[in-house]
Amino acid sequence: MSAVSAHLAPLNVERLRRDFPILSQRVRHKPLVYLDNGATTQKPQSVIDALVNYYTTENANIHRGVHYLSQQATFAYERTRGRIRRFLNAADNSEIVFVRGTTEGINLVAQSYARPHLREGDEIIVSQMEHHSNIVPWQMVCAERGAQLRVIPVDDTGELILEEYEKLLNPRTRLVALAHASNVLGTINPVAHIAALAHQQGVPVLVDGAQGIPHLPVDVRALGCDFYVFSGHKLFGPTGVGVLYGRRELLDSMPPYQGGGSMIQKVSFEGTTYAELPNRFEAGTPHIAGAIGLEAAIDYLNEAGPERLAAYEAELLDYATGALSQVEGLRLFGTAREKVAVLSFSMEAAHPHDIGTVLDSEGIAIRAGHHCAQPLMQCYGVPAMARASLAFYNTREEIDALAAALCKVNEVFS
Ligand code: ALA
Repeated sequence: MSAVSAHLAPLNVERLRRDFPILSQRVRHKPLVYLDNGATTQKPQSVIDALVNYYTTENANIHRGVHYLSQQATFAYERTRGRIRRFLNAADNSEIVFVRGTTEGINLVAQSYARPHLREGDEIIVSQMEHHSNIVPWQMVCAERGAQLRVIPVDDTGELILEEYEKLLNPRTRLVALAHASNVLGTINPVAHIAALAHQQGVPVLVDGAQGIPHLPVDVRALGCDFYVFSGHKLFGPTGVGVLYGRRELLDSMPPYQGGGSMIQKVSFEGTTYAELPNRFEAGTPHIAGAIGLEAAIDYLNEAGPERLAAYEAELLDYATGALSQVEGLRLFGTAREKVAVLSFSMEAAHPHDIGTVLDSEGIAIRAGHHCAQPLMQCYGVPAMARASLAFYNTREEIDALAAALCKVNEVFS
């Protein structure tokens, strides 16, 4: 990352922060320090404006009306699909399916791809560091079909043990489903390598990009994945909208996930035929405003420069790792060589929920709990962790405030 950053103009973070109105707030009589970006990110004014503008001037249902507003809304919605295709470097707009978020995207693939392919004794490979959203949907279809989940273990640093992955791949493997980056450890997984190995055995790969795409430029063709799923709200866009990218050949072979309006070609009581991609997977009125807001978020990121943002975050992560390492009794989880800016930790002095409460009294927002990754907590032998998850609008001063507040935790509970 430092080789990249050497060629990039420094980021003017103070200027970028002014684009995010919520960040200038005071909470608990202190300046807000928002370090819970893994849970959801804040929105720039341009995203808020896009939502307001849509409802103020363009609101209509899409793909249905001959009238002007409907055509405008349809145009904007489909323009967003194209923007996302370019952002991901997907081959075709039909490979971009709007969903509610990462969870729905994974469930769609579980029900429409995995379920029809699974037979008794088949296997799906996930990893120890997956979010529940990338475990439970597979467990559900496996239980129904008599198939099994196999789990790639992680080492002490929080990296996947790739030799174990290679051993798990076998002729019964039907799918590999893996996080691009861990929401707890920050580990960036070697997705391209993992996909190449899976493809040698004819096995498709789904990447849960919820925590990857907010931090890393994503090129689905370079990654070589078959499915890539992410949520708009973790990418500085609105809640309730997300994206499933699927390779056309695979999406084409999959039955619809939900039935209803928009996803049909012809309906009669004798039988129904389905629409072409991507409409076949978009039953009902979608989150039109959300998609348009997501387009504004992507425009914002493109203008700021995803590589530049990633380089800044990498430096901030180094700084934060150094600062937290100085705090007495603090144990950091996840020290992988390739990490996004996520720092999970525990403290000898206090339970993660108490840490979170003390930090909140200082105006600092972090997350405390199992982070929807209970199997990973079990692996580390802890019920919960505290987590600071950073974004490009965070600063060194905020990290200093975090470190000072953690020292206060030590004082309060000593
Ligand atoms: N998956 C989100 C997180 O890690 C909610 O906080």
